[in-house]
Amino acid sequence: MAKRIDGKMISAQVKDECKKRVEEEGLNVTLAVIQVGSDPASTVYVGNKKKACEYIGICSRPYELPEDTTEESLLELVEKLNRDDSVDGILVQLPLPSHIDEDRVIRTISPAKDVDGFHPQSVGALSIGQPGFVSCTPAGIIQLLKRSGVEIDGKECVIVGRSNIVGKPMAMLMLRENATVTVCHSHTANLKEVTKRADILIVAIGRPRFITREYVKEGAVVIDVGIHRNEDNKLCGDVNFEDVEPVASAITPVPGGVGPMTVAMLMNNCLEAKNIAGGSK
Ligand code: GUN
Repeated sequence: MAKRIDGKMISAQVKDECKKRVEEEGLNVTLAVIQVGSDPASTVYVGNKKKACEYIGICSRPYELPEDTTEESLLELVEKLNRDDSVDGILVQLPLPSHIDEDRVIRTISPAKDVDGFHPQSVGALSIGQPGFVSCTPAGIIQLLKRSGVEIDGKECVIVGRSNIVGKPMAMLMLRENATVTVCHSHTANLKEVTKRADILIVAIGRPRFITREYVKEGAVVIDVGIHRNEDNKLCGDVNFEDVEPVASAITPVPGGVGPMTVAMLMNNCLEAKNIAGGSK
């Protein structure tokens, strides 16, 4: 039976370490959190981020904008926050309403305040091993693996999904940890054959319970990034947990696996803002 990788516990550890740093180093950190519209899932995520800020001692400054906010006025707000020296991090909750160009908004956030790690400069820095903000979900997965004692160096890592937020930065981080990395996607031929090579299988394809035991090598570590509601309104991931658990050596549950790590790593990035900005804010 696989060991369960407990994201709730590990995220609590990370948040406690952040809280301690704020207290001991007397850090004074402010995160601007922008939500446009009232998508219920976004409201839950934003609420979790604000709660975590409060716990750690980070000041969160909320901006709740109406659904019909224009792209120009959102860009103006971001530019104003870029110039505001009392703001260390800027988070624009995604998705944005369809009339707003998300890429343009992300590009407008100062890389020195890009605590989500989505700006092209942050992504570029990651890919050439330079300092910069790292996307929170993949950074959280590295912490889950390391803090659960999973060896990464020299291992075969297969990532299913090539999104800008998870799959691609995940590949860069696993390379940085000296894994041999394969990224699969919807055009990958013989997906099962490829995923079966994995010592560490990271799944972010956005299809409920898609990965069954036929995709998994005996003894693999399986990380499930998906989050969906099934027919009974219960949360499930991209991995068929009950089917895969008996063949894996370790596995993340949904909920309580990768999800809580995203918020914890955002908090960590907020504290790093002072260092990464390097006076260039
Ligand atoms: N929407 C879903 N996940 C995220 C995230 O990590 N950051 C932001 N800004 N929006 C999201």
